[in-house]
Amino acid sequence: MLRRMPPNASQTVADLLHDAIERLVRVPSSPRSDAEELLSRTLGVGRGDLRLMAARPVEAAHRDTFEARLARRLAGEPVQYITGFAAFRDLDLAVDGRVLIPRPETEGLVEAVLDVLAAERARWEQPRVLDLGTGSGAIAIAIAQEWPAAIVRATDASEGALQVARANAESHGQGERVSFAHGHWLGAVGSDERYEVIVSNPPYISPAESDALPADVRDWEPHSALFSEEDGLADLREIVEEAPRHLVAGGLLALELSESRATQVAAWMDGAHDWARVELRDDLAGLPRMLLARREAGPAIAPAQWGEERR
Ligand SMILES: C[S@@+](CC[C@H](N)C(=O)[O-])C[C@H]1O[C@@H](n2cnc3c(N)ncnc32)[C@H](O)[C@@H]1O
Repeated sequence: MLRRMPPNASQTVADLLHDAIERLVRVPSSPRSDAEELLSRTLGVGRGDLRLMAARPVEAAHRDTFEARLARRLAGEPVQYITGFAAFRDLDLAVDGRVLIPRPETEGLVEAVLDVLAAERARWEQPRVLDLGTGSGAIAIAIAQEWPAAIVRATDASEGALQVARANAESHGQGERVSFAHGHWLGAVGSDERYEVIVSNPPYISPAESDALPADVRDWEPHSALFSEEDGLADLREIVEEAPRHLVAGGLLALELSESRATQVAAWMDGAHDWARVELRDDLAGLPRMLLARREAGPAIAPAQWGEERR
């Protein structure tokens, strides 16, 4: 039964939540989670605090803000763009329509990179890490924060995304630790730059799959962050082709990709001259969504690299 309160009544936290959840059931969403996120951000408290505050009346200004935010969610806008923030590992990142909302599976990609950094700690004392297509800066800033020895560089083809990422790096105290470059994949960095790790979550959805996407993704998130030509493979192909020139021998390439194309991308690399230890990893749902590979040791493509190979 709908239990809408007149707007001037003294509504409590529990009333507002109950009402919002009932209304959000009408849009494809996670009603409770969305309502709690919108209300807790409006009140400036943690989600867990809402339960403790259930019986507390909500002042009119907060009710109005919450109602306006709810209306935006009911119109399909993602919760993170409405509040302006998205949680990613230990970070609370500012996000807006210039950047993809960072996803939980990308947290797994960061975890996989951190595992390799830990395993290679003795060899890579100050690992140089390159995040291609940084968006909000999620991967780069998380790695900078969680691996203090890392020297992190982040790129994007979108100036707007770089503005968001720079601001996030500053607000998380990582402005000095992460450098940024604008440009098309590895064209953004100098031809002589070498990295121990290249990590990327590039666009990998085929434009033909657009209609199958949830509306709040298709209609709100930047298409330049979602779609890639050649059936979703064009950007992955470019990164896989260019990365060996910028990785040290034994360096890691870590990619997020779609489960439907993971084996195809792994097949390009399996047995190829430049790559060794090609491995697909599952996300929490058990789907192959990460590819890890090492740059094969041996003579590099460009003679300028040979000195480095012998070290
Ligand atoms: C899927 S989003 C990933 C954003 C962020 N790394 C994350 O995981 O949340 C892909 C990012 O790649 C950027 N991008 C798209 N094409 C690019 C290109 N040719 N060169 C560099 N970056 C590109 C987009 O602007 C977008 O920020």
